[in-house]
Order: sequence, then structure tokens, then C-alpha cells
Amino acid sequence: MTRATQTLEAVGLTKKYGSFKALDSLNLRIEGSKCVGFLGPNGAGKTTTLKIFTGLIRPSAGSALVNGMDVHAQKRKALATVAALVETPEIYPSFTPNEALMMIAKLRGVPPEIRRKKVEDALHEVRMEDWRDKKVGEFSKGMKQRINIASTLLNDPEIVLLDEPSSGLDPRGMSEVREIIRGLKERKRLIFMSSHLLAEVTEVCDEAALVDHGKLLAYDTIQRLTERFSVGGVLEAGFVGPVTAEILKSVESIRGVVSAARIDDKSLRLKFSGGPDAQAMIYSELGGLKIGVNSLRPASSALEDVYLNLVKENV
Ligand SMILES: Nc1ncnc2c1ncn2[C@@H]1O[C@H](COP(=O)(O)OP(=O)(O)OP(=O)(O)O)[C@@H](O)[C@H]1O
Ligand SMILES: [Mg+2]
Repeated sequence: MTRATQTLEAVGLTKKYGSFKALDSLNLRIEGSKCVGFLGPNGAGKTTTLKIFTGLIRPSAGSALVNGMDVHAQKRKALATVAALVETPEIYPSFTPNEALMMIAKLRGVPPEIRRKKVEDALHEVRMEDWRDKKVGEFSKGMKQRINIASTLLNDPEIVLLDEPSSGLDPRGMSEVREIIRGLKERKRLIFMSSHLLAEVTEVCDEAALVDHGKLLAYDTIQRLTERFSVGGVLEAGFVGPVTAEILKSVESIRGVVSAARIDDKSLRLKFSGGPDAQAMIYSELGGLKIGVNSLRPASSALEDVYLNLVKENV
């Protein structure tokens, strides 16, 4: 499938509720087929941004552009290739996915002669074909969310906006949703999704935009964000035998290690300062000490570290 390059652009996007600025001149330009995570603390302005990009609310100032078209000045045209899952009502429990999606396709103006095919394709994309004629009321939350995602795919959108797609799901539901988002990317779509799950964003997104207090703090590839803003972290080290006082002392004396504490008999949690280079040094030092380290892993994701640092600075 070939598509023109899609773009989403916020230009001085501002949203006021009374005198409170939920969005404060937000500038962001996303281009191409990729998945971009939208991160920020509660109340940062993520849902507000997504609602403006879906035409659900109007900005107080600035503009939201989709493929260069203003969402509010040229709503129909700008949103023709956009699908969104932002505050979607629950599907009526006695409907089957087939019935619900056929109805939504009709409401969205999908021509009758291709409706069935579009519904089949969408069900296939979220791997729910086998459930097409079962009642939605019997589905798990994860399955319902897959049907919700399918409902956004009926117009074969170029751009998909998702507001916390995994929120409220159990680990299995989350992993199913993650799988589907990965699939969406394969069809050359631009996916922009808000999330509080940094591991999820690291896993499925190519880039991340961080907002706080209605302003953009950073937007870059996840790799570059980690390189730029990571200033230390926490590692967990496992040992073949018990962690002796001597081992503890030698770990504490490694350059860059700020502190080390036993988690249990055979493992340590160590805090370090510095970026990825410092981390690499600590890895090699720990190996070189020959103190029986048999596992070593970051206790928090690198993106979490970046997020916490950026959000902290912005208080
Ligand atoms: N209709 C409204 N009236 C007044 N204030 C609002 C309204 N909608 C949102 N806000 C405020 O705007 C700010 C941004 O809200 P928004 O929902 O965009 O945040 P968010 O980043 O999506 O947060 P969360 O992670 O909790 O979903 C919050 O302080 C919120 O209280
Ligand atoms: Mg929100």
C-alpha cells in the first residue's frame, strides 16, 4: 500500500478552561508512518490535544493540522483519513462485533457495497474473526478494546489516534493490544498514542513526545531521548552465591555507583549516576571483579528515567 506522507502538526496550540491553560502554545510536528508515544503526567494535556486533533473540542488559539489541513477550518477534509479512540462509548453488550461494526460503518458513511468487506478486514486486523458473531457482553476487556480498535479501522485510516489504549487491561489484554498496535504500523500508518506505560511505549513506539503543563518538553526517537536525558538509574544484579560484606564493598567502590543495597541473599540493587557510558562501564567493572555476578538488568526502563528527569525539572 502506498500512501502520501502523513503529518500531524500542532502550532501554538492553546486550550483554556476559564483562566486555566490546559494547553499552552504547544508546538509539535509528527511526520511519516510510525508510532509515536504521547507521555506526560496526569493533567498534562494529552487527552485535550487528542480531542482537538479529532475535532471533538476547539482550541482557544493556535491550530491543529492534519496533512497540512486545519482540523477546525476544514474539518471533514482534514479528518477524512483520521481514526481515533478517544472517550469511546462502550459497545452495547447484546451486539455482536459484526452487528456493531456494520452499524458503525454505516454511521461513518462507508458505502453499503463495501461495508461487509471493511468489517471483515477490520476484524481480521484485530484478530477477532472467530468472535464476529458472539455477543460483546461476554467479552473480556481486552477483547472489547480490540473491537473498539477495529471500529477505528473501518475507513482504512492513515492516522490513528489512541488515548491510553491499554488502560484498565490486565497484562494479557495489554499484550494483545500491543500486538495489534504493532500490526497497525505495518500498514504504513501514523499512530499517535497517549500512555502512562513507559514499557509499552518503549516496546511499540519509535518516538515519544513528552508534555507537561500543556507544553512540549521533548520530542525525539526513544533512543535519542534516552541518550540525551538519561542521567543515571537503577540496576539489579544477581549473584551465584550469597552477597558478602566484601562483595557489597567492592560493588560500592565502582566508579559511578552511588549506592548498593541487598534485595535478598543473592541480589543487589545499585543506583548509579551518569548516562549510558557510565552504565556500560559499570557492567564491565562488575564482570571484571569476578564476584559471581550472573545477572544484571535495569530496574527501571531507560525511558522511565528520562521521563522522571524531564518532568521533575519542569515542576
Ligand atoms: N472540560 C474541562 N473543564 C475544565 N478543565 C478541564 C476540562 N478538561 C480537561 N481539563 C483540565 O485540563 C488539564 C489537562 O487535562 P487532560 O485530560 O488533557 O490531561 P491528560 O494529560 O490527558 O491527563 P491523564 O493522564 O490524567 O489522562 C487538566 O488539568 C484537566 O483538569
Ligand atoms: Mg487523558
